[in-house]
Amino acid sequence: MTDVVLLTGAGQIGMAIARRIGHGKKIVIGDKNIKNAEAISKIMTEAGYDTEIFECDISSRESILNLINEAQKFGEIAYFINAAGVSPSQAPIEAILKVDLYGTAVLLEEVGKVIKENGCGVTISSQSGHRMEQLGAEIDEQLATTPTEELLDLEVLQPENIKDTLHAYQLAKRCNEKRVMFEACRWGEKGARVNSISPGIIVTPLALDEFNGPRGDFYKNMFAKAPAGRPGIADEVANVAELLMSDKGAFITGTDYLIDGGATASYFYGKLKPE
Ligand SMILES: NC(=O)c1ccc[n+]([C@@H]2O[C@H](COP(=O)([O-])OP(=O)(O)OC[C@H]3O[C@@H](n4cnc5c(N)ncnc54)[C@H](O)[C@@H]3O)[C@@H](O)[C@H]2O)c1
Repeated sequence: MTDVVLLTGAGQIGMAIARRIGHGKKIVIGDKNIKNAEAISKIMTEAGYDTEIFECDISSRESILNLINEAQKFGEIAYFINAAGVSPSQAPIEAILKVDLYGTAVLLEEVGKVIKENGCGVTISSQSGHRMEQLGAEIDEQLATTPTEELLDLEVLQPENIKDTLHAYQLAKRCNEKRVMFEACRWGEKGARVNSISPGIIVTPLALDEFNGPRGDFYKNMFAKAPAGRPGIADEVANVAELLMSDKGAFITGTDYLIDGGATASYFYGKLKPE
């Protein structure tokens, strides 16, 4: 039996991270769109990686449990990467909350129950959550600790309190951060660690949908006026993930890493500051 790397979300960011840590291990890939899983599995197999693919919809606990069950047939899950998600231009409010918020929370909970001793995980949040105003200690605690099946009943997540799909996405990503803090305390009982990474604009199919969507100009302006002056690439996100998931990251758990070319800094104190 080998160590298993469980990857949800067969996109560019997920693949880049899996390539950094997955060589010599079994990489089990779950995606709602099996064609995406097939595509990265082909690229990785042809580059010497050992992959298996399964259809999995992270907005369903049953589907997540099925994927975990399949993965465990190959060995213990020692590494977990969640890079599945939908963006504000790809889905309506309800779907964003069900996938990005609830789905991530269920994954962190269920993988946490089976993660190998001293294992580790990362989930991809977003810079978008960092731009949103602070929600206060009470709501933060609700997002962190509410039982997963009751999360979507929280008042802050009701339709009348959500302006648009971008706001829903920001709430989901803020919740990811808080959930990681909560779960790190549970994962830690097994010496396991879990963190989130909040990327800025990273060139992937998801970002290209944003560039071509109703907020295209907003996003192009954002990377142009950020200190880095360009979008990032998935390999730069993988640099951070590699650190977090290696022995060098042994003291890092329950936190979020912002990697956005300075866009958030500029939004508060630079050229991107709203008038
Ligand atoms: N690309 C960016 O600019 C950017 C910035 C910040 C955060 N992110 C986050 O990074 C993560 C990965 O996105 P990416 O940019 O690599 O996009 P991507 O489009 O390359 O990959 C996303 C993958 O998630 C899968 N997916 C969507 N809904 C799913 C579901 N319900 N169950 C299982 N799989 C599902 C898609 O089929 C796709 O294969 C997302 O959570 C996204 O919010 C991306």
